[in-house]
Amino acid sequence: MVLPMHDSSAPQPLQAAKSGPLTGTVLAPGDKSISHRALILGAMTVGETRIEGLLEAEDVVNTAGAMRSLGASLERLGTGAWRVQGVGVGGFSQPDGPLDFGNSGTGCRLSMGAVATTPIAATFTGDASLCRRPMKRVLEPLAAFGLGWSGNDKGLLPLTLTGAADPLPIRYILKVPSAQVKSALLLAALNVPGTSTIIEPIATRDHTERMLRAFGAAISLEETAEGMAISITGETDLKPAAIAVPADPSSAAFPLVAALITPGSDILLERVMLNPSRTGILQTLKEMGGDITIENERDIGGEIVGDIRVRHSALKGVDVPPERAPSMIDEFPVLSIAAAFAEGPTTMRGLEELRVKESDRLSAVAAGLKSCGVAVTESPDGLVVEGCGPEGVKGGGHVLTHMDHRIAMSFLVMGGASREPVHVDDSAMIATSFPNFESLMAGPGALIQRPNS
Ligand code: S3P
Repeated sequence: MVLPMHDSSAPQPLQAAKSGPLTGTVLAPGDKSISHRALILGAMTVGETRIEGLLEAEDVVNTAGAMRSLGASLERLGTGAWRVQGVGVGGFSQPDGPLDFGNSGTGCRLSMGAVATTPIAATFTGDASLCRRPMKRVLEPLAAFGLGWSGNDKGLLPLTLTGAADPLPIRYILKVPSAQVKSALLLAALNVPGTSTIIEPIATRDHTERMLRAFGAAISLEETAEGMAISITGETDLKPAAIAVPADPSSAAFPLVAALITPGSDILLERVMLNPSRTGILQTLKEMGGDITIENERDIGGEIVGDIRVRHSALKGVDVPPERAPSMIDEFPVLSIAAAFAEGPTTMRGLEELRVKESDRLSAVAAGLKSCGVAVTESPDGLVVEGCGPEGVKGGGHVLTHMDHRIAMSFLVMGGASREPVHVDDSAMIATSFPNFESLMAGPGALIQRPNS
């Protein structure tokens, strides 16, 4: 299957103008974290894994390509419907060429873990943004299993990894609160004789743990004084599972904030995943006075899912507790947009991780807000956004997105409710996580279009 990829040489500017009320029902695309994991775990399982609702965005398509290069067979049966025939734990074969993960830190780091304990060599690469992002956070703990790597001392892509021939179990306390690092280590532990224990002092999203259990892995969790200890006994076979991917709360956050800040709006976001390790944005927006209610809460394949009703609200600024950061780590750009429309300051701290995402999100958000007439103070680990209150946001900015999909989408949401249109320099990266963003936002009434069209 070939899904359209963006032409990275041609920037695609977009502009959002003030719209009327947003109304109707919205189904955000499948969850990106779950989609990557379903493909990787399916590839590490003997037998057929069926996936429904897979996010067919560039990031996930690149992970599918990497799993194919490693020997698994993946077939697209229809929209979001995929069949994976895996090669089993330890069954990956040496790829013929580099594994290119494009813009995706998750696809890249999880796949590094998946190959780290299989004796093959594989070169990992990605786009200019991914080649700037730190890989040592995952390579150094994987080296304790016996992984070798070469390319450069900085631990930046492109890098060639040589999986351990005789891997040893590890006990490792995470140094950064990163679900990507945790997941890479858990995937590596699958092919290691004996029991490895990964200890997480600060909780991060737990989709890997849940999905490993669904695939029959020997995994156990124990609360300890050091944090959650996740133990995996390796060299046991995984059993194929059926995965239904719910809507991505990180993508749903864009229409959600758009509805909160656009007068008269009332929308329903369907089938959104409500895993507690991902719902910090809902909690924060409710504290800001957002009229957000959950309806029809249910369990789909081990994840809590619900429909979210959102109505336009007069928001007030809040202090976001730093310990909440991991549960909304990707939502700070769009929260900053909500904060700009609120009354009073919103303080966000403990966010040094945002400097090593697809872009330096603290500086990209601060620059974008300033260009739209919003006062903001940037510190090494956070932002204070001075809300414009009832007067509203001026807008009119030309925002640099720095190859970051979430910066582009956040400022397009801002343009829908500010006095003057907001322009983003390049929307091409939106395809990495939310390919139908423009049409999905147009459904309830957003006005997003090419400049001068
Ligand atoms: C992800 C974890 C987060 C998040 C990323 C997806 C995952 O990264 O920012 O978009 O699927 O595990 P970190 O775990 O590195 O914070």
